[in-house]
Amino acid sequence: TEKKTWSDRFESALHPAIARFNASIGFDIELIEYDIAGSIAHTQMLAHTGIISASEGEQLVEGLQQVLQEYQRGEFQPTVDAEDVHFAVERRLTEITGDVGKKLHTARSRNDQVGTDTRLYLRDQIGKIKTQLREFQQVLIELAEQNIETLIPGYTHLQRAQPLSLAHHLLAYVEMAQRDWERLTDVAKRVNISPLGSGALAGTTFPIDRHYSAKLLGFERVYNNSLDGVSDRDFAIEFACSASLIMVHLSRLAEEVILWSSEEFRFVTLKDSCATGSSIMPQKKNPDVPELVRGKTGRVFGHLQGLLVLMKGLPLAYNKDLQDDKEALFDSVKTVQACLEAMTVLMAEGLEFRPARLQEAVESDFSNATDVADYLAAKGVPFREAYNLVGKVVKTSLAAGKLLKDLSLEEWKALHEAFEEDIYEAIAPRQVVAARNSYGGTGFEQVKQALDMARSRLNSD
Ligand code: ARG
Repeated sequence: TEKKTWSDRFESALHPAIARFNASIGFDIELIEYDIAGSIAHTQMLAHTGIISASEGEQLVEGLQQVLQEYQRGEFQPTVDAEDVHFAVERRLTEITGDVGKKLHTARSRNDQVGTDTRLYLRDQIGKIKTQLREFQQVLIELAEQNIETLIPGYTHLQRAQPLSLAHHLLAYVEMAQRDWERLTDVAKRVNISPLGSGALAGTTFPIDRHYSAKLLGFERVYNNSLDGVSDRDFAIEFACSASLIMVHLSRLAEEVILWSSEEFRFVTLKDSCATGSSIMPQKKNPDVPELVRGKTGRVFGHLQGLLVLMKGLPLAYNKDLQDDKEALFDSVKTVQACLEAMTVLMAEGLEFRPARLQEAVESDFSNATDVADYLAAKGVPFREAYNLVGKVVKTSLAAGKLLKDLSLEEWKALHEAFEEDIYEAIAPRQVVAARNSYGGTGFEQVKQALDMARSRLNSD
């Protein structure tokens, strides 16, 4: 095995099992492109402040660029000997540039370095997730546009409550995705702070310019306190929390799709491109995509909890425990990205709503009962009195095997003299939906306005 960077201080070599246990190269190689970007900015700062010469700076930057190219071409593949991505890059750089490579780590520690890399990585990934959230919203908006007039039963307690415009139901998820997008925008403000130049924990003896390297890397601010700079993982936890909420929303939609596609609901048919079969039951078509999304939600929640526990007992400043934040963070990022992609495809082309079945569903229940009470209340009957009256009608109708629309005008009048012929119009499902024209309601006028707003929001940032 190769000599360790720090081995001159040690008597004997690392036990191979311990070397493997200690190494993070197996996963932090994910950071290589950010590690090199961070090192280039650090180098430029060293040259800018005169800590190294301009020509040394140029050699280092060229060397670092070469390391990246070699990695991208598959020529540079660090092994466990390298310990972590930071040592791997520095070592390769020194092989390429000779002695000047040994100046790279002047006025820097792996502690501020890994903090910088992780933030650059997360900033990038947050940008990608925000774009994906926009695509997800776009698909839901298009589906909503086609289904303003499609009615679907609305539920509370998973019991039929009041009918809805299907567009209204879909737009609820567009709103959730909007908050997710805004939350990420906010988290990004605290990801985008530079710890570079915090050193190992206490700052450095060199006349560095932290604002200069921060600016080169596109950071908005720098950590004001070097101890905090190398110890803080709040930004990762906040991200894990935002990622968890994205998963909550995707998982609720996934659950609805699973229900809707069941024989009990029959609201949608899954298209073949987004469903799978069974190895034994020839008739089966399974909603694996939403099930996987619902299932993967668990691991993202787990990573949030894992990160919180990882942090809670750590004395300042850096502790090796912090190396263990990466797999949790990387897996949260990848899981959210994969689930958003799959759900976007599923909603874009995986579902076929069944309008006839949906229509039949909204016509065959008592979800217009509130509207009978509202009808009387609008004619001056106190709402609670009207409500009690309708409760009785529901009871007798259920016993008689009738729906409200089956009652004759005489029966209505016998109940209350205020009923007129227009009661039938008032309790027709389409009118029941249209009438809910309060702001944010399911009335078609409201839904059209909500669609306009959602569409125009897509292009803002
Ligand atoms: N691989 C380490 C990590 O990810 C880099 C920082 C190591 N720093 C140290 N003092 N051992 O946290």
